[in-house]
Amino acid sequence: MARILITSAIPYINGIKHLGNLVGSQLPADLYARYMRARGHEVMFICATDEHGTPAELAAKKAGKPVAEFCAEMHEVQAKIGAGFGLSFDHFGRSSSPQNHALTQAFAGQLADEGLIEEVSEQQVYSNADGRFLPDRYIEGTCPNCGYDKARGDQCENCTKQLDPTDLIEPRSAISGSTDLEVRDTKHLYLKQSQLKDKLSAWIDSKTDWPVLTTSIAKKWLHDGDGLQDRGITRDLDWGVPVKRGTEDWPGMEGKVFYVWFDAPIEYIAATHEWADKTGGDWERWWRTDKGADDVKYVQFMGKDNVPFHTLSFPATIMGSNQPWKLVDYIKSFNYLNYDGGQFSTSQGRGIFQDQALEILPADYWRWWLLSHAPENSDAEFTWEAFQTDANKDLADVLGNFVSRVTKFCRSKFSEALPEGGAYGEAETRLIADLTTKIRAYETHMADMDVRKAANELRGIWVAGNEYLQAEAPWTVFKTDPERAAMQIRLALNLIRVYAVLSAPFIPDAAAKMLSGMNTLDTSWPDDVDAALTALPAGHAFIVPEVLFAKITDDEREEWAQRFAGTRD
Ligand code: MF3
Ligand code: ZN
Repeated sequence: MARILITSAIPYINGIKHLGNLVGSQLPADLYARYMRARGHEVMFICATDEHGTPAELAAKKAGKPVAEFCAEMHEVQAKIGAGFGLSFDHFGRSSSPQNHALTQAFAGQLADEGLIEEVSEQQVYSNADGRFLPDRYIEGTCPNCGYDKARGDQCENCTKQLDPTDLIEPRSAISGSTDLEVRDTKHLYLKQSQLKDKLSAWIDSKTDWPVLTTSIAKKWLHDGDGLQDRGITRDLDWGVPVKRGTEDWPGMEGKVFYVWFDAPIEYIAATHEWADKTGGDWERWWRTDKGADDVKYVQFMGKDNVPFHTLSFPATIMGSNQPWKLVDYIKSFNYLNYDGGQFSTSQGRGIFQDQALEILPADYWRWWLLSHAPENSDAEFTWEAFQTDANKDLADVLGNFVSRVTKFCRSKFSEALPEGGAYGEAETRLIADLTTKIRAYETHMADMDVRKAANELRGIWVAGNEYLQAEAPWTVFKTDPERAAMQIRLALNLIRVYAVLSAPFIPDAAAKMLSGMNTLDTSWPDDVDAALTALPAGHAFIVPEVLFAKITDDEREEWAQRFAGTRD
């Protein structure tokens, strides 16, 4: 039994995420967590909301709420949606937690003690009316390029030109509208990442088994252009982790907070601390190599845009602190999922959002389709046609149909209990050998986090049962040799239990229905397929389960395609 720590990139708090976010981190992380638990390993699966930064402040302002209140509410919304998709987090934390405040400040203090923090003076726009410095996107004005009067200090939305706040004509505060602005000196902390370049580079080079997508992005950032830059880790904002050096005040840093990308990954650790405070568990044995975490295998899941922060910035924080924290062992990253010929976009409201998806279909439809099309080697594309075709075929025609045919046939010709039947023939021996090969391959793909390959293998395992049924036709055999038909059906009913166990990481709700239909709590893994197909003995009562997967109709498909064609308001 191994100990496996799994983290999924923590979603921003500002709004409900779309399906692309789900398949790029949380869903595959959940698949892996569920699989590893099913194989008897000890798993700690951590996620949280990423609550700091300008976007959170702006979203709260738009919602007309104090930012703390907005974050608390949105955290609950996201937690509920996660539960709706069956995401089996051991803890879903908050980066604004006291645990993360303390830990982030402790990291900064240790980095300073190691001589890796530099204080840098900069110039920034200050609003006298608001009594605060304004980040670039808090400054509005007229675009010098196109004349658009709501251009932001970082970019003009109308002509897309990148801007500096000082480029704007008649700049004003986006908070109060005040034009009483001036440029002032301000001090910020920089993390001297460049000093860790050799160490980081050697570490990345040692990860020869990582996905190419992960290492290629890391190497690009390490070696291209100016290479690894020192980075500012503080901001002039109200909302965030106040800058402190450990538990001490940091002279000159009053009123400043740490940059969101500094505290967010630290929340992986702090969320485990939150979990421990809630449950009485021991978080240090997952994270401190001096407290047993050397035995832990730590795997991170994320979209490709997050890779630089996890391969370089966060490891720089950890290595630089010179404290015995656990470093990541494997980073599984994903490309993007596109929507019907374009991109999913949170800011433009384009695509299917997670709450909407759950309104129209049960989670298992989405889990199966998204995971079996995970954007591993290239970007993937969601279309309603493909979704309908694949879900109907795999879930309704293959798996659902197998379960319903077998259980209904048994009920009508024998009873709602497993029949006795005779000994296996050649077809059964062949089926068991075939299933054994396929299940061993499935285990390999799941252990390697090859999500699409695992889904293909699982589909093949479902298909094998159907083909057996089709070829052996117990309903025909029954007329001449009911003993033999009974044996076939006993095997097939046992196969339903095996399917439930194997499929649970992908489609947990359907798997639970299959197990309760088979009236069993036996979720033991089919290490020995032959033995697994005798787990339910003759005479064991079952119940014909309700329809597992209703087919998606053409009318539904058209209606949804229409409904989600535009943008969400
Ligand atoms: N909130 C970021 C995003 O959605 C991910 C943060 S991951 C962490 O892209 F490592 F910073 F926690
Ligand atoms: Zn413009």
